[in-house]
Amino acid sequence: MSHISHCPSCQAEIPSAEGAERVECACGLGYLLRGSVLDRIGETQREERAAEVEDFYSISPFPGYAPGDDGPTLIDRCRRSAFLCSLDAALPADAKILDCGCGTAQISAFLALSAPGRQVFGIDGCRASLAHADEFRSRAGIENLQLVRGDLFDLPVTPERYQFVLSRGVVHHTPDPDEATRRVASCVAPGGYLLLGFYETAARSFHVARRALGKVLGRPVRALDPVLQRSDLDEDKKRIWIDDQYKHPLEHILPLDRVNRVLEAEGFRYLRTVPPSPLGANVFDPTPELSASARARLRLGWAIDGIRDPDAGLVFVVAQKN
Ligand SMILES: C[S@@+](CC[C@H](N)C(=O)[O-])C[C@H]1O[C@@H](n2cnc3c(N)ncnc32)[C@H](O)[C@@H]1O
Repeated sequence: MSHISHCPSCQAEIPSAEGAERVECACGLGYLLRGSVLDRIGETQREERAAEVEDFYSISPFPGYAPGDDGPTLIDRCRRSAFLCSLDAALPADAKILDCGCGTAQISAFLALSAPGRQVFGIDGCRASLAHADEFRSRAGIENLQLVRGDLFDLPVTPERYQFVLSRGVVHHTPDPDEATRRVASCVAPGGYLLLGFYETAARSFHVARRALGKVLGRPVRALDPVLQRSDLDEDKKRIWIDDQYKHPLEHILPLDRVNRVLEAEGFRYLRTVPPSPLGANVFDPTPELSASARARLRLGWAIDGIRDPDAGLVFVVAQKN
């Protein structure tokens, strides 16, 4: 069955003729069609740093799929994450969700597979990562996931269009993470929710030290990295992890306060961070505003937990647009 395209900007179905290489939505946006991926960038020359990041992910699409991955194995893997479980439980069965910087779209695919009534849009700048995502989408028969190639700084999305916007591990890989955060935040509808995952300065401090040690030794110290110690991961997934964590050409680390300030200025209300794990709680339920000392304690805990953190200092802020 051929995939029916949906425009990320207006969410409408885009008619396309059999074998078409280009489609145009009634809202006026045109796309190249690559498989089921709507490509807004096409052959356009990208800004130098964005091109460098795309080249990097073309060699190491993140996160890679294992050869045997299918719908059930992806669901099973994602359900082992307390965060994804609680997110899945909190999202309505008919939610429209935008994933900015979806990479190979494992989270998008999981959220789409878990509830066929949802409509999930995954946008990423890397053509190769999206080709992997599309191959998986088609193999797993996921019809409610639209993959889109677009740049975070020129998102093909009508402002304030989405009730739920997710962006995991992306803004810190752009030349201007504050502006990237604003661009992602601009997609959220009033009353809607943003889940922004980024490398937090304190949470990533252990990894920064571990990476520096690896640089001195000429290779990552596997004994210090819980991901590299896992026996259930194949060597290709470990290579992708090493590239992403130890060799990335563009990475910022951001203090929690800085991210919160940007979001507050964009009209967002802080709800919570993850960690701590939202296990058993609704990830969109507000938690008490953090005092300066509570924030310091939270960040100290993240720094201490760094040694066994499988996300190497990635922290989510969950916020609601006023
Ligand atoms: C570490 S991966 C995260 C993938 C996915 N969100 C996840 O957590 O599994 C970062 C992704 O951000 C994308 N990215 C970085 N800069 C971008 C930009 N300017 N526009 C669009 N995507 C970008 C990369 O192509 C890459 O797929």
